[in-house]
Amino acid sequence: MGILLDRLTEYSQSDFYPYHMPGHKRNTAGDLPVDWTSRDITEIEGFDNLHDADTVLKELQEKAARAYGAEESFYLVNGSTCGILSAISVAVPFGGELLIARNCHKSIYHAAYLRQLKLHYIYPEISKDYDICEAVTPMQVQDALEAHPGVSAVLIVSPTYEGRIANVKAIAKIVHEKGIPLIVDEAHGAHLGFTSGFAINSARMGVDLVINSVHKTLPAMTQTALLHVNGELVDRQTLKRFLRIYQTSSPSYVLMSSIEEAVEMAMEDNAFSDMEVRWEKLLTDLSGLRNLKILPNCMEECRNKQQDIGKLIISTKETELSGPQLYDMLLSEYHLQPEMVCESYVLCMFTIGDTEEGYDRLTKALLAIDAKLQGGQKHSVSKMPIPEIEVPLYVAWEQEQGEVPLTEAEGRPAGEFINLYPPGTPILVPGERFTKETITYLEVCMAEGLQVQGLSKYGNVRVLQ
Ligand SMILES: Cc1ncc(COP(=O)(O)O)c(C=O)c1O
Repeated sequence: MGILLDRLTEYSQSDFYPYHMPGHKRNTAGDLPVDWTSRDITEIEGFDNLHDADTVLKELQEKAARAYGAEESFYLVNGSTCGILSAISVAVPFGGELLIARNCHKSIYHAAYLRQLKLHYIYPEISKDYDICEAVTPMQVQDALEAHPGVSAVLIVSPTYEGRIANVKAIAKIVHEKGIPLIVDEAHGAHLGFTSGFAINSARMGVDLVINSVHKTLPAMTQTALLHVNGELVDRQTLKRFLRIYQTSSPSYVLMSSIEEAVEMAMEDNAFSDMEVRWEKLLTDLSGLRNLKILPNCMEECRNKQQDIGKLIISTKETELSGPQLYDMLLSEYHLQPEMVCESYVLCMFTIGDTEEGYDRLTKALLAIDAKLQGGQKHSVSKMPIPEIEVPLYVAWEQEQGEVPLTEAEGRPAGEFINLYPPGTPILVPGERFTKETITYLEVCMAEGLQVQGLSKYGNVRVLQ
């Protein structure tokens, strides 16, 4: 057995529980067959062609469109990443302007680089209680559109990585009044709309381009995603051209069948009923926490459509623990693998793939850890500084660069992204200047044990010459 297969096999047999993607949670959820190789084919006779779908794949994509209430849907096998690259490329002309929420995924920045776009940012509010980015508001979008009349499209993320849900309907109305398309990165919302009483999906609200990672919140294989299109503002032929560019020419039929299975499963009556019951019990049981705090606090917050069902933030803000310390305890003492960690919280993810065991083990671990804490502290979290832009990303990435120690970078424009990973929100985009505040912020993040991408192991950063 090879090194990786050996490690994967060993891990699959361990007692580590996954509070992370993919949404099948390493269970054989739905009808996923275990024997994949006998079904792994390419575009042979009778199996259609993803890039020009006319028979079976056309039928599957039409089925997906009906499931999500979209006019047209496309299967993606290169993750939401390729859907986002394609959506931005079709919605904004080469060299144009795009308005985005700053907490966007790196694929948005990559599209801006490839298409030489000028980016304008909406900085989401930071929740004081949980230190997470809130969803962008209709008012923020309205103001930003007034300030930047040259933008050709708007892109927001909802739900956010942490599960905050935007008022997409109101935002779509504002954007459409300007006669331009709205793109919603709904990578974390492939499950929306299948559970009654909770938030619905953006495709159903007439959003022009919506991207879902099926693998994140539904029981599908990693890399599977969907792109939905509505309305007249997007040219469908050009969109197909970009999908041909950004997707592999050898789409996996195994992955494509996994999309169909996951969506079928989500559409079944009562597909989410066990999850809803267990989720509500989890929140009720965790209301007994004295020091750690959770978001959502109760099912009502999910029914109010502000916080997504399935995303649990565990805040260490009022305890003597940091986020990374809680993460380490969950992992090493309890063999529970969270989705991600930040300075003052840990994020755990639940989907319909979770078992009763997953809810029980996390509840017991958190109550036990909490009982040993003193509490009362206010873990102060440093504020991410808003940087100044010296040159656009596409200029910076083409310019000559050098390396300097972080401590000597003040005043120099960054040559590489500096990200906190996960979730990957940029602290600095190439072309934005290092300031005293950014350097201090980065030092604090590293001292907290957070993973800062863009620094060499010697503490150097890339800067423009
Ligand atoms: C908000 C957001 N959008 C897009 C993506 C890209 O999704 P994928 O991994 O399916 O390419 C991610 C991945 O983590 C994400 O968090």
